[in-house]
Amino acid sequence: MDKREFLKKASLATALAYFGLTLESCSEEDVPDPNGGQEIVLDLTEPPFSILQNDQGWLLHPDYDILIVNVSGTISAFSSRCTHSGCTRNWSYSEEFTCTCHGSKFNTSGEVTKGPASSPLAKVAVSKNGNLVTLG
Ligand code: FES
Repeated sequence: MDKREFLKKASLATALAYFGLTLESCSEEDVPDPNGGQEIVLDLTEPPFSILQNDQGWLLHPDYDILIVNVSGTISAFSSRCTHSGCTRNWSYSEEFTCTCHGSKFNTSGEVTKGPASSPLAKVAVSKNGNLVTLG
């Protein structure tokens, strides 16, 4: 069997293995932890985090790739690594997040509302104690 005939009959995985390559799947565990496994505490009385005291207040954390939003008093946080091609710092917000790299939109639960992205943003755990918000 010559190389051309082999490639016609082989599955993609078999063909890649023939050339010493492998397919890797992407799972939720492959999503990098945006805060490096550490807890991040935000003081809502201090700028820039004070904007999160307002309904629909949002920000992209200045030091970590995390989007944070207040919706009706509930603060949610997500990895800002867009699930389309991985842009992390190109975001706008108007009732939903828009990745300005290619226009994907995500609602305040992190679900895709407009592609090209097809997977939700990774959630970051949030807890609140008075004016202190802990992420991670
Ligand atoms: S990287 Fe976000 S839409 Fe493409």
